[in-house]
Amino acid sequence: MKKSSQILLTGHGEASMKSLFGAVSQLPGVRVQLRVPCGSEHDFTAGADIDADILVHFLGAKAEMELEALAKHGRQSCPTLIVSDHGVPDARLMRLAMQAGARDFIMGPQWLEDSLSALRKIIQEDGYTHGGSRRGLTAVVNAKGGAGASTIACALAYALATREGLQTLLLDLDLQFGTQCLRLNLDSPQGLVEALESIESMDEIALTGYVAKHASGLHVLNRPEREIVLPGEIDEMRLKRLIELAHSYYEHLVVDLPRLIDPVFNLVLEQASHVIVVMQQELSSVRDAQRMIHIITQDLGLPIERIMPVLNRYERNNSFGLGDVERVLSLESIAVIPNDFKNLNRASNLGIPIAELAPKSPATLAIQKLAETLAGKRRPEKHGMLGPLFSKLLGRV
Ligand SMILES: Nc1ncnc2c1ncn2[C@@H]1O[C@H](COP(=O)(O)OP(=O)(O)OP(=O)(O)O)[C@@H](O)[C@H]1O
Ligand SMILES: [Mg+2]
Repeated sequence: MKKSSQILLTGHGEASMKSLFGAVSQLPGVRVQLRVPCGSEHDFTAGADIDADILVHFLGAKAEMELEALAKHGRQSCPTLIVSDHGVPDARLMRLAMQAGARDFIMGPQWLEDSLSALRKIIQEDGYTHGGSRRGLTAVVNAKGGAGASTIACALAYALATREGLQTLLLDLDLQFGTQCLRLNLDSPQGLVEALESIESMDEIALTGYVAKHASGLHVLNRPEREIVLPGEIDEMRLKRLIELAHSYYEHLVVDLPRLIDPVFNLVLEQASHVIVVMQQELSSVRDAQRMIHIITQDLGLPIERIMPVLNRYERNNSFGLGDVERVLSLESIAVIPNDFKNLNRASNLGIPIAELAPKSPATLAIQKLAETLAGKRRPEKHGMLGPLFSKLLGRV
């Protein structure tokens, strides 16, 4: 188990970086390494002799190039802060920072104080990552509308809470048409919107006052009951805080994420340990999955290892077989959930989890297998030999 947080400080701007280095070194329980890349060097982290828990990059005069380089090297596996002592960055810089996986973009006259408080927060909140006990967040998203993401999110969260014994929260982010409470026959007078309104003064125990509690032990944070929330109306910083707070109480979060690429989508994926992309057994759905995976890995920069493609409503005798799906996606070992309309339809109409209604049904068993993988009991599905071709092919999307 690591005893201290390893912080790698990279970038340009000698005087400012020196101040930052001095101040960060004073934080309790941290070890900081300063790495100033020389000349045209763009791999800022290469050559560092620590296994960084947090990367802090101080932007120099060629901010755009630096962010491009960071983004090109892929989303960093550790939380990343981008710091600048300049004014407000333009939209392109923000976008590049997002692609590089930045958790925060700190700028302006208070940059030093703000950097320190951001670091303190990350160290505190990511404390659980040390020792390898990172809590999970699984985002479930449809490649194509109606492919079954909400059904899978619900059944998966139930399996994690009951079979895997994990304190689990199902977060319904389908803000306009979410159905998670209905699926579990739960009432929730308070939900996400009310929780976000009070987030500043809330602790993790107070958060549990806003969730609906299923008899199985699964908790659900409902989409707004009556209000219509329009895209862009959710304050991302508040949602981020809510997710962080939820993580300090729950061992696993399952997020029913609508198919809308926006800052909320990006924020959730940034926190996700796994992203389940749900598709059906038809070419158009698989093509959409290919495009969705491309957006998530190439544009948003998530590592491919975090993506779990799931083929829902699978039928062995469908002429567009599993092999065809693997070929289109250039991926192997895609998880399948068999077609089980009768049971799932009944379960959803009665507001009973499918595992309670049909515990031995193939769909229940397949979802339980998925839950075991997420809980770390099974080895994650490996993206096999076709993997190297993946980005090449996706490049053509
Ligand atoms: N494995 C399955 N076998 C048979 N039917 C399924 C399966 N998974 C989901 N369904 C059915 O597909 C329909 C759509 O699924 P669901 O309710 O999960 O919506 P969704 O895909 O989240 O839709 P939206 O895009 O609107 O959010 C439902 O009627 C559900 O019962
Ligand atoms: Mg849905």
